[in-house]
Amino acid sequence: MTKHHTRRELIGASPINSELVDYLNQARSPSHNQLAPCVALIGCDGSGKSTLARDLVSLLNRNINTRSVYLGLGTGDFGRRIAKLPLVGGVVSRFLQNKASKAHEGRDKRLPGLATALAMFGLSLTRRHRFREALKYRKKGVQIVTDRYPQAELAGGFDGPGLNSARKGSPLVEYLARREQSIYRQMAAYQPTVIIRLNVDVDTALARKADHERALLEKKIAVLPTLSFAGARIVDIDATRPYGDVLASTLAVLQRFGLRA
Ligand SMILES: Nc1ncnc2c1ncn2[C@@H]1O[C@H](COP(=O)(O)OP(=O)(O)OP(=O)(O)O)[C@@H](O)[C@H]1O
Ligand SMILES: [Mg+2]
Repeated sequence: MTKHHTRRELIGASPINSELVDYLNQARSPSHNQLAPCVALIGCDGSGKSTLARDLVSLLNRNINTRSVYLGLGTGDFGRRIAKLPLVGGVVSRFLQNKASKAHEGRDKRLPGLATALAMFGLSLTRRHRFREALKYRKKGVQIVTDRYPQAELAGGFDGPGLNSARKGSPLVEYLARREQSIYRQMAAYQPTVIIRLNVDVDTALARKADHERALLEKKIAVLPTLSFAGARIVDIDATRPYGDVLASTLAVLQRFGLRA
């Protein structure tokens, strides 16, 4: 069993002992004791994250103050908004698309030039800003549902750093890459209470997001199970099922982790 399998749990597997969950929550980090619960929804484009985030917030918010926070950037709806920005929009969104499609392939061996690196770094700062907003809410007792979650394990898309700090570039760009990597490490160190991983096959994803590129979706689907999110608890949900079933399964998991609708 690999490291990132250790805390994983499959729907339908034996139920987690709730005392053990409480103990693990307390043991992980003292600062987590003061934070309201946070559910992170991850999954390939078209897996239903945004739809589920919206519905979970309206259900959970009936009892306890709950908000959703979008923590992605790049190839989702946020990416399409970036593409519409004047001046930098085209360049940045093309770079993001390229990064995502080249990740893992080793084709793009060097770091980009300063302008692109600064744009990437700026986007990561925007993500960190939203991450900090979410933390502030959690400190105030507001439950959070995140649409995506940052990870520090894989650069070049997949909600990780945009710049690969292992690659060579100009000294300033290498510095930005190292800084960006450390920003992602800091964010990933705050584990959500539970990560809901919405699994879909590529045909389902494409049927729901017809304008997306099949190869890119296939890559995302392949990468997703390899990310451990710093050892956070991950529960797999089969998101190819009818939406009502996906919502009901997710609510049942959240209930087990102390979030009530
Ligand atoms: N279980 C489901 N069954 C059928 N349709 C679904 C299901 N879940 C979501 N959808 C539909 O699929 C489409 C894509 O869903 P959504 O935008 O929530 O995906 P996403 O994971 O947020 O994608 P992205 O990463 O691109 O933002 C929406 O039209 C949504 O209504
Ligand atoms: Mg979405």
